[in-house]
Amino acid sequence: MNKHSSPAFYVRDIPIYGDAILAPMDGYSDWPFRSLCREFGSAMSYSEFVQVEKILSKSKQPAKKLYYQEVERPVTFQLYGDDPNKILEAALRVQDWGPSIIDINMGCPAKSVSHRGAGVGMMKSPLKIARTFTKLSAKLKVPVTGKIRLGWDGNKNYKLIARIVEECGGSLIAIHGRTKEQSYSGNADWDAIAEVKAAVKIPVIGNGDVKRVEDIEKMKRYTGCDAVMIGRAALANPWIFARLDREQVSPELVKQTIHNHLAKSIEFYGDEDGQRLFRKYAVQYLLLKTLTRETRKQILKPMPSGEFLELLDQVYAATA
Ligand SMILES: Cc1cc2nc3c(=O)[nH]c(=O)nc-3n(C[C@H](O)[C@H](O)[C@H](O)COP(=O)(O)O)c2cc1C
Repeated sequence: MNKHSSPAFYVRDIPIYGDAILAPMDGYSDWPFRSLCREFGSAMSYSEFVQVEKILSKSKQPAKKLYYQEVERPVTFQLYGDDPNKILEAALRVQDWGPSIIDINMGCPAKSVSHRGAGVGMMKSPLKIARTFTKLSAKLKVPVTGKIRLGWDGNKNYKLIARIVEECGGSLIAIHGRTKEQSYSGNADWDAIAEVKAAVKIPVIGNGDVKRVEDIEKMKRYTGCDAVMIGRAALANPWIFARLDREQVSPELVKQTIHNHLAKSIEFYGDEDGQRLFRKYAVQYLLLKTLTRETRKQILKPMPSGEFLELLDQVYAATA
């Protein structure tokens, strides 16, 4: 897993070997997928975001979302909330589960999150971010980091927020180069990522529109960032972490990955849910757009595990 001889950067005292990292993605970067990407070379492991109220209510969901194995370290748990005291209480609780790092989501644009002041909603209240990071960095043993956007709207305050995170004890900033208003549209603003890198001394991870292997170096060179985070492009091409573009991936490797990912999914979720939750990745691995509607429907239909794998192999043989 660790092909790099010296760290690319440190999160406080934690060395990070490698400069491409799987982005946290709710509903996608679950344990099977993030551990797979870590095996391919993603330099650290970020969980999907977990709501602090879910942690405090002792629901079973957070433990499932925050599962990891030792080999995946450094492991970052990402939390979201709108109340600094609750964020602290939840962070203290999950710190006992052994993460290497705790990250605060300040980028989620979903209405249900941001309109109540969590996710990117936090960026509307710099004071709340200051309180949160001051509390967390004083009370937690592990480093605290933050993932931000450019801001809520045209009034972009990313530089201010990055400085606040640093000033209040944060150990790293990841920045997605879009505002909340932009959501996922338009191009990510790499100039803004460069401005953040120039504004703080803590490491900066750049994020947005890294689609191909060459974009990793391009973004690093353009912005000076310490590492890049890859989200949507990794769903169809997790091999990007092994520095392979999709067309360079051998049919054997695709097949091996499908088998490995499905096995992880079944191990983690059980037979039925494991297969069901794997299907959305399977259609991506098999190059969604090249499949006929009929084939896609076939893959998405429930069926026994052995038959499913056989069907994938057949579809793959027909498309490869
Ligand atoms: C389906 C989906 C779920 C996401 N969930 C999260 C999340 O839980 N936490 C987070 O910080 N960002 C989340 N993001 C944002 C990504 O981490 C990333 O910032 C964004 O996709 C831009 O990077 P990309 O251009 O490489 O996809 C999500 C994005 C997508 C597409």
